[in-house]
Amino acid sequence: MAAVLPDLSRFQARGLETCFHGRHVGAQIYAGLDGTNWRLADYVARGGYSALRRILGKGGEGGEGGQRDVGAGMTPEQVIAEVKLSALRGRGGAGFPTGLKWSFMPRQYPGPKYLVCNSDEGEPGTCKDRDILAYNPHIVIEGMAIAAYAMGIRTGYNYIHGEIFEVYERFEQALAEAREAGLLGERILGSDFSFQLHAHHGFGAYICGEETALLESLEGKKGQPRFKPPFPASFGLYGKPTTINNTETFAAVPWIINHGGQAYLECGKPNNGGTKIFSVVGDVERPGNFEVPVGTPFARLLELAGGVRGGALKAVIPGGSSAPVLPARVMMDLTMDYDAIAKAGSMLGSGAVIVMNDTRCMVRSLLRLNYFYMHESCGQCTPCREGTGWLWRVIERIEHGKGRPDDLELLDSVAFNIKGRTICALGDAAAMPVEGMLKHFRDEFAHHVVHKTCMVAQPA
Ligand SMILES: Cc1cc2nc3c(=O)[nH]c(=O)nc-3n(C[C@H](O)[C@H](O)[C@H](O)COP(=O)(O)O)c2cc1C
Ligand code: SF4
Repeated sequence: MAAVLPDLSRFQARGLETCFHGRHVGAQIYAGLDGTNWRLADYVARGGYSALRRILGKGGEGGEGGQRDVGAGMTPEQVIAEVKLSALRGRGGAGFPTGLKWSFMPRQYPGPKYLVCNSDEGEPGTCKDRDILAYNPHIVIEGMAIAAYAMGIRTGYNYIHGEIFEVYERFEQALAEAREAGLLGERILGSDFSFQLHAHHGFGAYICGEETALLESLEGKKGQPRFKPPFPASFGLYGKPTTINNTETFAAVPWIINHGGQAYLECGKPNNGGTKIFSVVGDVERPGNFEVPVGTPFARLLELAGGVRGGALKAVIPGGSSAPVLPARVMMDLTMDYDAIAKAGSMLGSGAVIVMNDTRCMVRSLLRLNYFYMHESCGQCTPCREGTGWLWRVIERIEHGKGRPDDLELLDSVAFNIKGRTICALGDAAAMPVEGMLKHFRDEFAHHVVHKTCMVAQPA
């Protein structure tokens, strides 16, 4: 019998629509995009590269931004001060302050130093960076060039997730355009500043998104995390000082330079500047990427995504699959910023908002999540290598009606003993969803163990 395929037509982009379907409020990174206008000329017409011109003190042709007075340029210290003022926090997951990270780079270091963009984007639910690269690649190039100037770096790499090869090819095309226009390479725009930028594609391993595993992979080795310290700022790519930031982090920089750190800060909340792109996925009517001010209420984000699909809101994983789940009643009162979500016991993480309706069984959902971490563990440390598989085996038997009376305590114990005892944060990322599920939905797990069946009503 032929397989019945689901009708996905309502999720597919049509005509000029991008895959985020114009779903953004007060957008900076996604502003003015229609899915086709990704080329250099389009970007310049939107004011692109005016921030780079501004810091180099080089005026010239261009759109809105290019016609502004560029003044005498900015010193590297002024650029870093502006980024610090903006309260831009790294969009890769940890939310580390970007300006502070940039200030760690030893400016007077005599040898080579490197700048790396992390476009590995493997966190389940997250799909924002690939859209930035596909629809606005020059904003990342400009952001990286500004970062390189600020930290005195001459060479950079963009490490792009291996399974989105068309995005990698587009980025290569954008790089070629920028080089041709003198926006990359030797003596950029006739200044003393030179910066070579290259693209590199990975091969689809989630662990290569971890910054030190990424550096190993970029060096041509097996992508396994390094023990830290030393941190990349002192021992990074090829053992040289390296700064690594997420794609969206770099993409935020041109706006900050053009409008000032204070204006960026005021877009969001104190300590949580600017806009953030949320990938709203799961049980919503209109999944997609939404760029909104940091601190936007979750209820508003849900409304933008068309509301819950297929039932009432049960729970949300607010920051990618590594983030602990939060129940609906908590989420509906939350604002989407780093501090508020941390206070509620979860993380903003990569900004993937996984919405779950009341037909979702939490045991089954956790089993699926946990399988991912078991599969992606690089195997270097025992608590992660053995613990992720152990968690999976226990959840699997609970799901299939073979749970034992002490299994919930066993899950608590295994998760507790993975956390904080591994080389990289993948161990924590595997343990935290287990802790979150057991904290908020323990009764569902207990029901599976006692009654050997699920308590969640499935749709007819
Ligand atoms: C297992 C694991 C996977 C990660 N994957 C990504 C990723 O795909 N993209 C990313 O930017 N950061 C990822 N990170 C975070 C990076 O290690 C690093 O903190 C980040 O790239 C720094 O950039 P930012 O300061 O701009 O956030 C991951 C971390 C871990 C532990
Ligand atoms: S925590 Fe897991 S993924 Fe990270 S280094 Fe250890 S074994 Fe590898």
